[in-house]
Amino acid sequence: MARLDLPEFLQQLDDYYVMGQIVSLTISGRHAQSSNPASRYDVRPVVIRDSVQLQWTCRDKARRQTHENLSWDETLNRFSTLFPTDFRNALIRLKEEDLQLQLTKKGQLQIHRHNSAPKAAAPLQHDADRQYIFPPGQPVPFLVELGIMSPQGNVKKPMYRKFRQINRFAEFIRDLDDRFTRERPLRVVDYGCGKSYLTFAIREVLVSHLGREVEIHAFDRNPEVIRTCEEIREKIGIEDIRFQAAEIGEATIEAPLDLAIWLHACDTATDDALARSIELQAEVILAVPCCQHELHHQLDSEEFAPILKHGILRERLSALTTDALRAQFLEMSGYRTQVIEFIDLEHTAKNLLIRAVRGEQSAEQEQAAREAFERLKQSLGVKQFHLESVRKESSANG
Ligand SMILES: C[S@@+](CC[C@H](N)C(=O)[O-])C[C@H]1O[C@@H](n2cnc3c(N)ncnc32)[C@H](O)[C@@H]1O
Repeated sequence: MARLDLPEFLQQLDDYYVMGQIVSLTISGRHAQSSNPASRYDVRPVVIRDSVQLQWTCRDKARRQTHENLSWDETLNRFSTLFPTDFRNALIRLKEEDLQLQLTKKGQLQIHRHNSAPKAAAPLQHDADRQYIFPPGQPVPFLVELGIMSPQGNVKKPMYRKFRQINRFAEFIRDLDDRFTRERPLRVVDYGCGKSYLTFAIREVLVSHLGREVEIHAFDRNPEVIRTCEEIREKIGIEDIRFQAAEIGEATIEAPLDLAIWLHACDTATDDALARSIELQAEVILAVPCCQHELHHQLDSEEFAPILKHGILRERLSALTTDALRAQFLEMSGYRTQVIEFIDLEHTAKNLLIRAVRGEQSAEQEQAAREAFERLKQSLGVKQFHLESVRKESSANG
């Protein structure tokens, strides 16, 4: 028995579905105070006209049954509205395991896992439906070398989440094609590249899918990780990526910069990378921030006191404020900026993508953004903001 983190579980459930593991779902144990007329739902995948649907059977108190066919995304949505709000139990039957979800009387969410005899195969969700840029079943050398795919192109089970992340990021890159110059090779930087899943993915999309020439610079402060990336690069025979062990602030890269990316750079490392990208006048910036701590102890506001007195709400508000201030700072630095969901169903603080494109702001818009930035800081008692401090420092030095 273990505590259940529902958003994380829904993500896992999605992975199970993609891998064709789900045999059935049952939702039962309606709360006495619920106004839902159903007493139980049984859900199972069925094939209808060559595509997989989820058949929902709803039973009411008089044991009457109604049926409805939903897509998987609709199923996940409905599941998360019913459990645990209206119902306290859910049973997920996988091919070789049963997962029992329960809301206890004390209000805790728990999960029990039981091995079970292998059950008949559920209809497979066709991954082709999802139109991944790197479809399962088609081996891509960097995904094989990084241990995401087998040499036959099968996505390894524990790597499914990473696989989806890589594909999602690759989609963002593909959709930016028209924004990039056609006059020279594209200069790209990945800050805090880690194992360089994204670095290789970006190169694959730009070079193999879009026919671009590139010059990619990938940095990480950890020399060991950089050594591993170098080995993989050599093994796959790629010459247009340069890996370097360096701090973000010290990374040697020159303007013009076409694309600056980073995924999950911790805390203020995101701000260092943003400051550097603004300084180098990167055309496009794609950033998925990680944890945020800088504002946690700074936030101070009478109006927001009912939020700030709860640790968890303070944490969330400080993360939201950090990303809002970052987006606002980009707007006042000449970038049209959007904050969008990176991967659906990952309802965590790590699920936001800041997407900024240079040169689409008028002077008036930049001024208005600056004023809004100052107002937000003031209303929440923010005295110091790392991105602003680093930019001020580098402008003063140069
Ligand atoms: C959570 S990992 C993410 C790696 C990669 N972007 C990914 O998503 O797979 C963060 C990486 O950033 C690197 N890093 C953190 N702060 C850094 C800094 N100030 N300068 C350079 N690298 C940094 C760490 O060494 C680590 O490899």
